[in-house]
Amino acid sequence: MRALVTGASSGIGAVTADVLAAKGATVLRTGRTITGPSSFACDLATGVSDLASWAGDIDLLVLNAGIGHAGPFAEMEPGKIAELFAVNVVAQLELARALLPGMIARGRGHLVLVSSIAGAMGVADEAVYSATKAALRAFADALRLEVPAIGVTVVHPGVIDTPFFDRRGTPYTRRRPRPIPAVSVAEALVAAVEHHRAEIFVPSWLRFPARINGALPALVRVFQRRFG
Ligand SMILES: NC(=O)c1ccc[n+]([C@@H]2O[C@H](COP(=O)([O-])OP(=O)(O)OC[C@H]3O[C@@H](n4cnc5c(N)ncnc54)[C@H](OP(=O)(O)O)[C@@H]3O)[C@@H](O)[C@H]2O)c1
Repeated sequence: MRALVTGASSGIGAVTADVLAAKGATVLRTGRTITGPSSFACDLATGVSDLASWAGDIDLLVLNAGIGHAGPFAEMEPGKIAELFAVNVVAQLELARALLPGMIARGRGHLVLVSSIAGAMGVADEAVYSATKAALRAFADALRLEVPAIGVTVVHPGVIDTPFFDRRGTPYTRRRPRPIPAVSVAEALVAAVEHHRAEIFVPSWLRFPARINGALPALVRVFQRRFG
């Protein structure tokens, strides 16, 4: 199997690439700062078509690269909304669009989109980030119907111990839920591909608040206003 992992220079993407390689996959890695063999350094905001040409035929595409932002929406600096959508949504979908025709022609392939629990239920002070991650989920739900021969998996991590929070400029300060290691996401992601799962939450208990939010959003809003 030939896999391409975006955001493979750090955190969830780096560990996912390692888990796939340990299972015998040929793993291509990308990120702006990535180095080493089978790696292609590029900014996804501008480099998708060069990346797709370099990658060639791919069986498993893990769309994991992403950036965060936390803080009041009304105080976001100009350009930040566009940057979040460019990296988290547009670049990932453009890469999927570039590589999907090959999968369809071969009659097999799998896309994984790394969303967030913030894509399944709003997170305070993360309005735009939540919107980008919800966009990935909506895209996946529609694409799954359009290309039934291709696997489409959405991964919703909770709080994961990676440089993500430092990079976004706002450290994670809540006591709970506690951050869990990136390898938990990587192993769950690979298992979800192996078992053709449409959607997973990591840790798995997060599916309960997400499902309750889907069924009883007013109740969840009451809890969120009270507990954040
Ligand atoms: N950590 C969490 O708690 C958490 C929770 C839910 C969802 N997620 C999602 O999980 C995914 C991975 O995050 P992480 O926690 O592993 O964070 P991370 O350690 O900061 O990794 C982010 C990756 O994205 C890449 N990236 C960022 N901007 C890029 C750009 N313009 N072009 C190309 N690559 C770019 C980074 O590579 P370079 O810097 O080398 O470009 C890095 O490899 C993200 O989509 C994030 O939204 C994380």
